[in-house]
Amino acid sequence: MEHATDTTESVARSADQDQNQDQDQVNDYDGFAEAYAAETENSLVNAYYERPAMLALAGDVSGRRILDAGCGSGPLAAALRDRGAAVTGIDASTGMLALARRRLGDDADLRVADLRDPLPFTDGAFDDVVASLVLHYLEDWGPTLAELRRVLRPGGRLIASVDHPFVAYTFQDPRPDYFATTSYAFEWRFHGQSVPMRFWRKPLHAMTDAFTTAGFRVCAISEPQPDPAARELFPDGFHDLSTKPCFLFFVVEVPPSAAGSD
Ligand SMILES: C[S@@+](CC[C@H](N)C(=O)[O-])C[C@H]1O[C@@H](n2cnc3c(N)ncnc32)[C@H](O)[C@@H]1O
Repeated sequence: MEHATDTTESVARSADQDQNQDQDQVNDYDGFAEAYAAETENSLVNAYYERPAMLALAGDVSGRRILDAGCGSGPLAAALRDRGAAVTGIDASTGMLALARRRLGDDADLRVADLRDPLPFTDGAFDDVVASLVLHYLEDWGPTLAELRRVLRPGGRLIASVDHPFVAYTFQDPRPDYFATTSYAFEWRFHGQSVPMRFWRKPLHAMTDAFTTAGFRVCAISEPQPDPAARELFPDGFHDLSTKPCFLFFVVEVPPSAAGSD
């Protein structure tokens, strides 16, 4: 998978475009669900870096009720379930959820839900929420984080990975305005298929501010290394991934004292 183009747009211009342009024209996971799942199942970045990092941050999940927000085809949900968690998966894409269903079976709790909308769960329903590589699809994290906090019990954790906000400074020329929240568009290429995507980048402080404004306490900001087992499998990519920022990981917690304080 590669980013073919990368176009920085201002928030105002993108907001207009979002209103005027059919949202389905970008980020159409239904249209490339199989290709995305196949590409990321055993890739260096996903299988030897992102997922191991999320699992390490989650630690012992045995007996925990976990919401996988933006679960995609369910690789993280499967790994968490293997470790003894009771996992619910939500995703906006029915195509991705169909793959998750195939992986996790008919009994799995999988639901179509858009993270920009209210979530179909009661207050305090989960011990943890995991959100792998999904928050950067959202311009405004506020409503989403408020909902994720609501469905977590006091003391519950949100563990999230996003595009590292410094990545643009690693490879983009000209560099974007670091302090602005901007969308950027590019084409993902999968085996001859070209897929238009749009993500949102924010500065680090905007991310931590969004967590604390939603009532979370930031417990960890992590920049993990890839799994050493990948060194021989992906020698070139391993060096790149070991020396350049790629994703940023957060563990944020609902303060235990927040019980009944809403
Ligand atoms: C990069 S994929 C990651 C999938 C999965 N977390 C993984 O690590 O394999 C992003 C996923 O987020 C989902 N997604 C994007 N925007 C969403 C939204 N607003 N609400 C719910 N899911 C969303 C996509 O459908 C896709 O399955």
